[in-house]
Amino acid sequence: MNEKTIIKATELAKYYTIREGMLIKRSLTLKALDGASFNIKPGKTFSVVGESGCGKSTLARLITMIERPTAGDFEVGGINAVTGTSQEMKALRKKVQIVFQDPYGSLNPRKKIGSILEEPLKINTDLNREERREQSLAIMGKVGLSPEQYRRYPHMFSGGQRQRIAVARALMLNPDLVVADEPVSALDVSVQAQALNLLMDLQEEMNLAYLFISHDLSVVRLISDEIMVMYLGRPVEQGKKEVIFENPLHPYTMALLAATPHVDKKARKKRILLKGEIPSPLDPPPGCTFHLRCNYMTNLCRENQPRLRVVGERQVACHHAEKFC
Ligand SMILES: Nc1ncnc2c1ncn2[C@@H]1O[C@H](COP(=O)(O)OP(=O)(O)OP(=O)(O)O)[C@@H](O)[C@H]1O
Ligand code: SF4
Ligand SMILES: [Mg+2]
Repeated sequence: MNEKTIIKATELAKYYTIREGMLIKRSLTLKALDGASFNIKPGKTFSVVGESGCGKSTLARLITMIERPTAGDFEVGGINAVTGTSQEMKALRKKVQIVFQDPYGSLNPRKKIGSILEEPLKINTDLNREERREQSLAIMGKVGLSPEQYRRYPHMFSGGQRQRIAVARALMLNPDLVVADEPVSALDVSVQAQALNLLMDLQEEMNLAYLFISHDLSVVRLISDEIMVMYLGRPVEQGKKEVIFENPLHPYTMALLAATPHVDKKARKKRILLKGEIPSPLDPPPGCTFHLRCNYMTNLCRENQPRLRVVGERQVACHHAEKFC
């Protein structure tokens, strides 16, 4: 078995500076992502879950090298992707590809599927026209599209088929990692399972690693090996899927699981309802950022921010995690 690590991220952070105020301008720092550390190995799926605005897509933009982190760093196949030379970065960008949520907006409506798929080959390889065509037809076959569809335009496809095209495009350069940012959220529920099965089949066939982003724990449960639950930009619980679904230790994870149908009864037994709104990331509460919504909050929680620490087989950022073991 290949044990090399595709992604090794260490304390990744992304802060945005926001300017506010009409007359008196002031600058505020928005910590969109803070302290994300994880490894992803070939053939494995690392999933990131959490409510809207918790920093999932920010992480995707860092790992795909669309944006640079404010702090921390990460390696792709052992090469530092923050301090790498421009030549190294160019090579790394081929190894990491992305599939977006919206199968309508992410494909150029004026281009035929063949030319959409061949564009990355034109830019990044010396393949001639015939070789490019062969390669795109081969990938189309892998994702379940037929050769006749090569000359069709995106509007001639259903949502599920368009997402197959987006997946095919991501695979054209034979990447090591695919970042999938809510890849099935825009699809009808009836098509979601097919799309997930396709991703899992491709993973097995090509030994792909996935950074899979979703707000839906029932989807994450199907596809993941490891998960990272995020709240207001910070990881709050992280570990093997089975461990976390079986016995979540962070009250936020418990609340997400309790609200998700079709998860283990044991996890759902800790019935916790999520109360209140997510606080503004521009003015997060002191101490544990979840304390205003947490049923187990104590004075310690109000004052001290819990660090991510190892409890049993997972990492969790809660002062009172041992209570829930
Ligand atoms: N370019 C930017 N400038 C300023 N703030 C940003 C920028 N991009 C993201 N943010 C903020 O960072 C936080 C995290 O955003 P992000 O898009 O990563 O969340 P998300 O988890 O992907 O949410 P969703 O589930 O809605 O897609 C949000 O508060 C967002 O408003
Ligand atoms: S640290 Fe306190 S407020 Fe935060 S999740 Fe744990 S018990 Fe709740
Ligand atoms: Mg997002």
